[in-house]
Amino acid sequence: MDKPKIVLGVSGGIAAYKACELLRRLTESGHDVRVVPTASALHFVGEATWSALSGHPAVTQVWESVHEVPHVRIGQQADLVVVAPATADMLAKAAHGLADDLLTNTLLTARCPVVFAPAMHTEMWENAATQENVATLRRRGAIVVEPAVGRLTGVDTGKGRFPEPAELFEVVRRVLARGGDARADLAGRHVVVSAGGTREPLDPVRYLGNRSSGKQGYALARTAVARGARVTLVSANSELPDPAGADVVHVGTAVQLREAVLKAAADADAVVMAAAVADFRPAHYAEGKIKKRDGQEPEPVALVRNPDVLAELSADRARPGQVVVGFAAETDDVLANGRAKLARKGCDLLVVNEVGERRTFGSEENEAVVLAPDGTETPVPHGPKEALADVVWDLVAGRLA
Ligand SMILES: Cc1cc2nc3c(=O)[nH]c(=O)nc-3n(C[C@H](O)[C@H](O)[C@H](O)COP(=O)(O)O)c2cc1C
Repeated sequence: MDKPKIVLGVSGGIAAYKACELLRRLTESGHDVRVVPTASALHFVGEATWSALSGHPAVTQVWESVHEVPHVRIGQQADLVVVAPATADMLAKAAHGLADDLLTNTLLTARCPVVFAPAMHTEMWENAATQENVATLRRRGAIVVEPAVGRLTGVDTGKGRFPEPAELFEVVRRVLARGGDARADLAGRHVVVSAGGTREPLDPVRYLGNRSSGKQGYALARTAVARGARVTLVSANSELPDPAGADVVHVGTAVQLREAVLKAAADADAVVMAAAVADFRPAHYAEGKIKKRDGQEPEPVALVRNPDVLAELSADRARPGQVVVGFAAETDDVLANGRAKLARKGCDLLVVNEVGERRTFGSEENEAVVLAPDGTETPVPHGPKEALADVVWDLVAGRLA
């Protein structure tokens, strides 16, 4: 089989050097990558680097190898175009259909999915012109990955940072996995995903927790970004890197998670509660470390109920038509317990999976059944957590439509 053909467009931002790592990951994972830098990009990283890393000439203008008609062919033959970094200038050109170099011509001839990873100073990103250009590109089906917040060129920090190349690679991989017809079907939607497991403190050093790694929730966030959604990820104690394009809110306890999820849900089209939220928390928090005393039995730990965030979201929708999805991790009687939980919580979909010490938690794979209140069951066979995530988003997108 031919390797999937990717065009890596590089425009003239300081983050061009990070695109070298993206290029490496793409070629090492079996993709045929052609780099199309702009003339400005070559001020940051030279033609030799792009050619040597990709194994193809890295051409900027339309006037080279004219007999091959590169200004048309490169875009036509691509399975995916990713522009990383995308400058404010490149977003403007793409939104307006300019075609004054090889990359802008390629963007006009590409029939495949197109991903832009903008990177620039906060002022440039927030400028109304840039925001309108981004909105135009998204409306036309392009996936524009929200830049991260963090250190920019020089000493500044703010929104506009290029995402971690490894995470951007994951977005590209997801878009490719969805195939040539993959379009940004969640474009214009805001989705909230909770991930990880809450920790309920007993004293300054101990907590009651659970085995959730956050991998399923992070897969949901990543997949939603790849489908064009604006994503807020409320992450409880996960050690995973922030997914590219998601706005990540880190929390510790169930009470903090509730607050963050309800705040984000206020304008959300869908909320997917993949986090393992503790049902109970210690009734008392000891300000100092609880000591072991000779000859004394330990005090029993009294527990109180935590708020039921899924039931609350389901009963009190922040906006009409908001889709609420829950997860149920069960150890036995999985489907019967799942159906009972769906009825009790009142959510639109419940993803039921069987868990155990060595099952699901921390694993890269999952197997589940998605239950709906009308009795529909969608079985998802054993496979990557991203595949389950895509099934969830398919069902959510169907309900939003
Ligand atoms: C040192 C330096 C860093 C720059 N970094 C960025 C950047 O991160 N993002 C951006 O949009 N423009 C940045 N620019 C401005 C662009 O290079 C400029 O708008 C250029 O015309 C972009 O051309 P292109 O879109 O064809 O690559 C930078 C310029 C300089 C000199």
